[in-house]
Amino acid sequence: MTGYDWRRRLALFPDTTRLLGEDEEQQLVIAGCDLVELASEYGTPLYVYDQATMDNAVRSYRQALSASYPEAWGITYAAKALLCLAVGQWARQRDLFIDCSSAGEISIAVAAGVGRENLVVHGVNKSQADLDATLAHAGTIVVDNLFELERLLALVDGRTEPLPDLWLRLRPGLAVATHAYRQTGQESSKFGMDAAEVARAVGLCIERGLPPTGLHFHLGSQFQDPSPVTSALAVTLDLMVALRAEYGWSPTVLCPGGGWGVAYCEEDLPQPSIDDYVTLVARQVAQGCRQRQLPLPRLQLEPGRSLVARPGVALYRVGAMKHTSGRRWLLVDGGLADNPRPALYGSCYSALPVWQPARPPAEPQWIAGPYCESGDVMIHGLSLPEMHPGELLAVPVSGAYQLSMASNYNGARRPAVVWLRGGEAYPVQLREHAEDLLRRDLPLPGSALETLAY
Ligand code: LLP
Repeated sequence: MTGYDWRRRLALFPDTTRLLGEDEEQQLVIAGCDLVELASEYGTPLYVYDQATMDNAVRSYRQALSASYPEAWGITYAAKALLCLAVGQWARQRDLFIDCSSAGEISIAVAAGVGRENLVVHGVNKSQADLDATLAHAGTIVVDNLFELERLLALVDGRTEPLPDLWLRLRPGLAVATHAYRQTGQESSKFGMDAAEVARAVGLCIERGLPPTGLHFHLGSQFQDPSPVTSALAVTLDLMVALRAEYGWSPTVLCPGGGWGVAYCEEDLPQPSIDDYVTLVARQVAQGCRQRQLPLPRLQLEPGRSLVARPGVALYRVGAMKHTSGRRWLLVDGGLADNPRPALYGSCYSALPVWQPARPPAEPQWIAGPYCESGDVMIHGLSLPEMHPGELLAVPVSGAYQLSMASNYNGARRPAVVWLRGGEAYPVQLREHAEDLLRRDLPLPGSALETLAY
């Protein structure tokens, strides 16, 4: 763990984060909004999102693509990172495509007004409901395997309504450096098809009069070394040469997925550059196609985390402190249930007190939540000022894969979400209440319980 350099830690927060007030009055402010007020109004844990930081990330992708890719390009937002009505509206307004992984996500995107042409559906084992929702609402389906392709072709046989474009998901046999649970491109992965299967899929689609339009791969998530992506692009472009020779077919779209990482704690800084990554990928596709005399496809990137992670900050209230052997615990009112990532992947996080973050540090603190799991430890041994019950702790880079993986463990009620823009705070998701925990439950009839005799 590094020392307490609160200024450096601020680089993990949204672009609009400021320290306002003098000395005793100093506090963190995001998008001109008072976090203390928001926490009292909406309760804690509270998730706030800074729209300006989301927009800045989109702008970085757009600028790098338009500067380095000479053909058409597009950006798909991977909705699994975070999806609610407001995020869908934002994606739609920014003209992003949106990647949904189930009928459930499709229904949220549709409710947000995302149009058919912008809706892309992924999934490794799509259910009938997923396929039905895809046919009803999506402009593109990314086919994961040959069984799915057969089912899909049977399902659309004789249909007169417009069909979604078919993309095929390739498993290039390459791994990115990230947690094993987030690797998806290696040979042993459950995702996608190998090159021979993709070739069979292309043949099958052509035979049935439904030629695919795209090739897709996604190697994994939260990587910072892009070299496996460049190797996977070479594999894909070689496959495109082979497919052209065999079937006279070339994809009109190429999507090398998402996965570009973000810095979660000071040790990860500086923030990985979106510009460097996109420029590398775009140049490689353009050059690689030219070298192989392939027509340039539309280049479609598919980021999730790098658009929404840093815009999101989680606010927790300190409840208690304690010492155990060699550890000083700071116990806050959220953790595992709203952020399972430390327990699941050993992910690192950082934090700052909302009030007077420039106070001198105390001894390192273990920040943990209230849940009945020893794995409910959000941050290990963080250098932090002494904090007191009732104070607010802000955990940056909380925007991706936290709320979308949140649970009701121990009866936790999922937090409220507030959207910040230019001094205004818009609640976009309500906090769950005890009634929500009972919403799906039905009582057993008394007769069902009557038979056991002791
Ligand atoms: N495209 C596909 C097909 C994906 O499966 C994913 C993420 C993405 C794009 C976006 O990847 P991103 O740019 O967000 O890294 N729960 C894990 C992450 C799982 C990622 C799943 N797929 C975590 O919390 O780190």
